[in-house]
Amino acid sequence: LTPEKRSVNGAVLGPFEGGGAITDVEAWESERKGAIRKALQQYEYGMFPTASQTRVLEKREIDTAAFGGNGVVEEWTLSATASFNGVEATTKTVMDKDGFLFQIVMPADRTGPVPVILMETFCPWWDAIPHPGVSRPAGSDPVVEEGGGIITFVFGRFICTPPIEEILDRGFAIALFYPSSVIPDSVVAGDAELRRLSSGYVDDDTRWGTVAGWAWLYSRLIDALEDDERFDKDGMIVWGHSRYGKAALAAAAFDERIDGVIAHQSGTGGASLNVDKPGESVAQMMENYPHWFSKTYASFAGREEELPIDQHQLLALIAPRPILLGNARRDVWSDPSGAFLAAKESGPVWELYGSQGLAQERLDRWHPDGDIAFWIRPGTHGVVKEDWPAFLEFLQAHF
Ligand code: GCU
Repeated sequence: LTPEKRSVNGAVLGPFEGGGAITDVEAWESERKGAIRKALQQYEYGMFPTASQTRVLEKREIDTAAFGGNGVVEEWTLSATASFNGVEATTKTVMDKDGFLFQIVMPADRTGPVPVILMETFCPWWDAIPHPGVSRPAGSDPVVEEGGGIITFVFGRFICTPPIEEILDRGFAIALFYPSSVIPDSVVAGDAELRRLSSGYVDDDTRWGTVAGWAWLYSRLIDALEDDERFDKDGMIVWGHSRYGKAALAAAAFDERIDGVIAHQSGTGGASLNVDKPGESVAQMMENYPHWFSKTYASFAGREEELPIDQHQLLALIAPRPILLGNARRDVWSDPSGAFLAAKESGPVWELYGSQGLAQERLDRWHPDGDIAFWIRPGTHGVVKEDWPAFLEFLQAHF
C-alpha cells in the first residue's frame, strides 16, 4: 500500500483529514468507523438508505420432516421500504405474492434458538432448494434432487444448492434468498430498480449500486429473523459467493447485527485490494458490471491508486466479528493474494480489540478458528466439495 494509505496507525486507521491516531476501541467505534463508512459509500458503494422498514407478510410452513427427516422448511414473504431524504419506496412484488420470498430450512431436532446462515444465491429458490413444496413459476417442474443443471458442472456441485442435510446436522439453519428477484443483476433492470427505490436521492454519481442493494437486503432478512425467537440473535452469519460475497462483506461492514461472514471468492469490490492487482481491475469490473457499484467508483478506472479508500478498511469495519475468506489457487481473477493483503492490513483494528485478525503467515496455513480465516484450495472459481467442510469447520469453531 502507498505510504499515504499506511499513514497513522497503519493503513486501516488513516488517512482522514483532521483524523489523528486511533488508540482505543472507543475512539475507533465512535469516530473512525463512521468516517470510513461514509467514505466507502461516497467512493465505492453509493449511499445506503437513511431509514428502512421491513414487514413480514406471511410465514408458510412447507414441511416439518424434510431432508432426511431433520429439516423444517418454511417460505416467508417480506416487503421492505427504503427511505432516501424522506422519500419512501417499497420493494416490488414477486410471483403475485404481496412481497418477495425467501425460504428457511431449520433443524427439526433443535432444542433452543439456532444460528442461521443467510445465503444469497445465484439460482432462484426453486432450483436452489430441492423440495417440491417451494413456490415456483407456473409450468416449471419441481426439483426434487440436488442439481442445478449445467451451471453446477462449470462452477461446482454446490454453486446453487448447499449441502443442506450436513448443515442441519451441525445445528445451523439456512435462509436462502435470490437477491436478483428483488434487485435484478442486470445493467438496465437493476439500475432502474435501484433508481426507483432511491427516488428521493438526487446525486447520480453516488447513487447506490446493486452490491449495496443486495447488502441492504441481507439486513432486511435479519430484521425478520431477529424477531423470531427460534433463531439465535448472536448467530446471524451471512454467506455469499463472488458477487454475493462482495454483498455479504458490505452487509457485515454496515450492519453490526451480523455476527460473522463467509465471503467466498469475493474478489474486486469484495475482500481484494483495489490496487496492484494481478486479477480483475476496478476498470474491468465496472465496464462489465456498471450496475454493481456507484459511478464515482467507476470514475477511478485506470487510476485506482488514487482511491482514498481500500478494501482492508471494509474488513476492518467487521472486526472483531469472525470472517472466512474463501479462495482458489487458479482463481487469479478474484485475486487471492490481494485478499490476503487486505486481511493483513486490517490487523491494527483487531489489535485494538485485543484479538489477532489474520493469524496466518501463509495463504495455505488454514486456521478455521482464526478471527480472519483464510481458506485456499486448488482449482478455480466456484463452490466445490472441498469448500463446505472448510466453511463448516469455521462455523463450528466460532458459533
Ligand atoms: C465475474 C466478475 C467478478 C465476480 C464474478 C461472480 O467474474 O468479474 O467480479 O465476482 O463474476 O460473481 O461470479
